[in-house]
Amino acid sequence: MSEIAGRMSIQAGAHSLEKAQGGRGTLLSGAPGVPPANVLVLGGGVVGKNAAKIAIGMGANVTIMDKSVAVLRALEDQFGSKLTTLYSNRSCLISQISISDLIIGAVLVPGAAAPKLVTRDDLSLLRSGAVIVDVAIDQGGCFETSAPTTHEHPTFIMDDIVHYCVANMPGAVARTSTLALTNATMPYVINLANKGIKRALTEDPGFLNGLSIAKGNLCSAEVAASQNRSFVSPKKVLATI
Ligand SMILES: NC(=O)c1ccc[n+]([C@@H]2O[C@H](COP(=O)([O-])OP(=O)(O)OC[C@H]3O[C@@H](n4cnc5c(N)ncnc54)[C@H](O)[C@@H]3O)[C@@H](O)[C@H]2O)c1
Repeated sequence: MSEIAGRMSIQAGAHSLEKAQGGRGTLLSGAPGVPPANVLVLGGGVVGKNAAKIAIGMGANVTIMDKSVAVLRALEDQFGSKLTTLYSNRSCLISQISISDLIIGAVLVPGAAAPKLVTRDDLSLLRSGAVIVDVAIDQGGCFETSAPTTHEHPTFIMDDIVHYCVANMPGAVARTSTLALTNATMPYVINLANKGIKRALTEDPGFLNGLSIAKGNLCSAEVAASQNRSFVSPKKVLATI
């Protein structure tokens, strides 16, 4: 779903940049004699990489920021000079947001709310009519001014900045999303049907890692911590099944 949301973020952002949507009236590719739009992607994980791929394909000038040098190195190896990679820190972020037409929020800190990288005060630094697509909204969002929106009303404008904050972006392309999700999950379903719960969990560590609740026990450390409930490791629960 992150692959799909990342790809969609550029489609949604390009549409929101149109004048009738409240955007700057900027075409991502520019035109002969007119420079392309500047797209800034915050977070170079699955969403960020897929956003960058589509933005580059549409002819934009793309910069991606991440906290992990390993992630930036892999992106540079993959995209070469078509993509600018930057280590994420506050001063770099400030200089980049002021020249961006479209900003994609794609950061994730596993088990925690997304860090608010762009504050309300920072919005005054952005170009009027710039667009932010906060894909990380399902984890609280990485822009302070983000609030969840729906496919029916996907955007709102605050301080002259168009905000797109749909919490379930892949739902808009349900056919593609269903096929992609089924491709990823079907092997697990077949495993479960063929082997039964205990054998499937024992033989596949990935499957065991996905165990959330069993026999009344909460087996996800992150969920248990956020809910202030006790946690029992999947391995321990497996022994009782
Ligand atoms: N809205 C939707 O429909 C939708 C769909 C899919 C995913 N998401 C969300 O998108 C977000 C990103 O998902 P993902 O699969 O790409 O995660 P990921 O773990 O693959 O990537 C997250 C990246 O953020 C980076 N990061 C963490 N803190 C950072 C910081 N301060 N500055 C810059 N980079 C930082 C990490 O190093 C990592 O590379 C998640 O919140 C996920 O839940 C939303």
